[in-house]
Amino acid sequence: MTALPQYGKHVHPRAKMRAVVIDRYGGPEVLRPTTVPRPVPTRGQVLVRTRFIGVNPKDVIVRKGKFQVATGKKFPLIVGHDIAGEVVEAGLGTDLAQGDLVYGMINDFAGRGYAEYATVDCQQLAKAPSSIELRVAAAVPLASQTALQALRDDARVRPGDHVLINGASGGVGVFAVQIAKILGAQVTAVCSHRNVGLVTELGADRVIDYTKTDLVDVDERFDAIFDVFGNYHFDKLKHLLTPGGTYVHTIPSARIFKDVARTFVRRQRAKLVIVKSRREQLDWMRQHIDAGRLRVVVDRSFSLDDAAEAHRYVETKRARGKVVLEVG
Ligand SMILES: NC(=O)c1ccc[n+]([C@@H]2O[C@H](COP(=O)([O-])OP(=O)(O)OC[C@H]3O[C@@H](n4cnc5c(N)ncnc54)[C@H](OP(=O)(O)O)[C@@H]3O)[C@@H](O)[C@H]2O)c1
Repeated sequence: MTALPQYGKHVHPRAKMRAVVIDRYGGPEVLRPTTVPRPVPTRGQVLVRTRFIGVNPKDVIVRKGKFQVATGKKFPLIVGHDIAGEVVEAGLGTDLAQGDLVYGMINDFAGRGYAEYATVDCQQLAKAPSSIELRVAAAVPLASQTALQALRDDARVRPGDHVLINGASGGVGVFAVQIAKILGAQVTAVCSHRNVGLVTELGADRVIDYTKTDLVDVDERFDAIFDVFGNYHFDKLKHLLTPGGTYVHTIPSARIFKDVARTFVRRQRAKLVIVKSRREQLDWMRQHIDAGRLRVVVDRSFSLDDAAEAHRYVETKRARGKVVLEVG
């Protein structure tokens, strides 16, 4: 019987594919291009021929082994969540068909995206936007859904609300600025001076340069603070919240879990966004992208074999928008 690898429940006995795997947790050098068995879709899944892959800080965290409790010790492991490509096989119980161009995010903790093919639950995918290249579509799923879930679902941003976005020029931030505007908010974006032009073009009403102003000293009130970069915490910024305001953090830690628990029944609340891919939200993104209301900012592209270089770049924390891998 074929051993079940970490990246797919079932594999094809003969068909192979290119992939980048890790054989242990560690630095970018552990990312190894190789050939592995091709996965086979099970009920509810489709097999996607991946053309482009979005790189996220989460891929780096998984590669470093920071969430081993969830990602385990079974190797080889394929990391990566964001994909865009073509459905080549549809399992039973799926509503996508062979030939559909799709984009989406694999919800499993480690992912299995850095490969030529990936099996994905069809509800974690949607038809790709038609107005942008697949390369650009691959940059959308994880980051944009994080922004939508933080702002619409956690902070319940409404028209006229004042929203502060810290880390507005990175992968999640560029979507957060635009999504907050789509939700009707007044947006204050926080980034360094080199990105002031970018976030203004994306719709920010006001920009704070964090190299000149510490957010703690800002004399304003916000209905929602989305701490995308995650270098503050609830107590440090709660004086900037309106009486019913919400602070949303992105990085799981004992502190944020405690803040979420102790503010659960308070008017000013702390929340932690944990992104999940959903068809409804990917459809929402596609409609706004195709209508020209949501712009996707891709900073750099690398080939799949250069995934280690892409990780080194993401680890600088200087990316403007998203980083993408090209399967080729
Ligand atoms: N919980 C979840 O479900 C979830 C989902 C997605 C992401 N995340 C987490 O969210 C964080 C951000 O993700 P991302 O994809 O947006 O990261 P990213 O693309 O790597 O962010 C890079 C951006 O961070 C900005 N930055 C650097 N130092 C900063 C500072 N001190 N203050 C404000 N901005 C600063 C940089 O702008 P400048 O060059 O202008 O400094 C750069 O544009 C990561 O920790 C990621 O793991 C969590």
